[in-house]
Amino acid sequence: MKNIGVVTSGGDAPGMNAAIRAVVRIAYSKDLRVLGFERGWEGLLTNTLSQLTPRSVGGIIQLGGTILRTSRCPQFRKREGIEKAAETLASNNVSGLAVIGGNGSFKAALELSRETDTLIVGVPATIDNDVFGTDETIGFDTAVNTAVTEIDKIRDTAISHERIFIVEVMGRTRGFLASTVGLTVGAEVILVPEVKYKKETIFKTIKQNSAKGKRSGIIVAAEGVGDTRKIAREIEENTGAEVRLSILGYAQRGGNPTARSRLLASLFANKAVELLSNGQGNRIVGLQKGRMTSTALEKACKTEKPLDLSLLRLASILAT
Ligand code: F6P
Repeated sequence: MKNIGVVTSGGDAPGMNAAIRAVVRIAYSKDLRVLGFERGWEGLLTNTLSQLTPRSVGGIIQLGGTILRTSRCPQFRKREGIEKAAETLASNNVSGLAVIGGNGSFKAALELSRETDTLIVGVPATIDNDVFGTDETIGFDTAVNTAVTEIDKIRDTAISHERIFIVEVMGRTRGFLASTVGLTVGAEVILVPEVKYKKETIFKTIKQNSAKGKRSGIIVAAEGVGDTRKIAREIEENTGAEVRLSILGYAQRGGNPTARSRLLASLFANKAVELLSNGQGNRIVGLQKGRMTSTALEKACKTEKPLDLSLLRLASILAT
């Protein structure tokens, strides 16, 4: 194996640069050249790439975002896109490809793996933490800390004005971010897409808390639960509490990666280059129960990672 490729794809996550840096430097330690494809899968469609060296990835471990840039590439969902990407890999003699991204990127990688001899290894990097085969993804810890820091500030004004705040965090389909953030900010209510909630239960919780003297509160809601503006209005109408909505948005996708995100980036990249240099592909790397492992790409793409609902039950006890 002489050339390996690296690409960052899908929603960016803090720690992607740390992963790029580690892929390059570990590959060089094994006498491998590294080609960085730009703007996600688009770079394989347009053959836009650059050779990455240990020097070109200096000073980036602490940077959010991705120096390769990323994209969501709809053309890649068509057969001609996949075939074009396979041609690009062949024409650049890419024997192995490290794909740094989330589920959407891995599903595309699975399609590509069927059209190319290039070995492909997924490096899970998404703030959603919703990738089967790893307990934690690159960027998740950073996004959790970003949200916690912002919600602690919101808690101050909620207490001062005796208000209820609904804070919407990212997570279009899954509640890993919302459940961990909710537990660690002491949220009175946590809403996740996986659990159908009853409005009456929320109203009852707020009224009971008020009767106990808890005149303010935080509701953490994943964006995937629905129209949080409407939920805020209904809570006001049914409880008499003053309710405000704060949408944290894209700040959760940026910022300097935490040490934890940098550690995962380095360990995942090491495992990915090890697999590729040993001729193993069509896997995703991951951390499971404290151990570095790898999972078949197809299994990871087809299996939904379960949300630990005990976190929600614990959060509710802790918020009494
Ligand atoms: O997948 C990560 C994520 O941040 C989700 O939590 C969010 O819903 C989505 O990406 C936003 O996608 P985009 O960046 O394309 O608006």
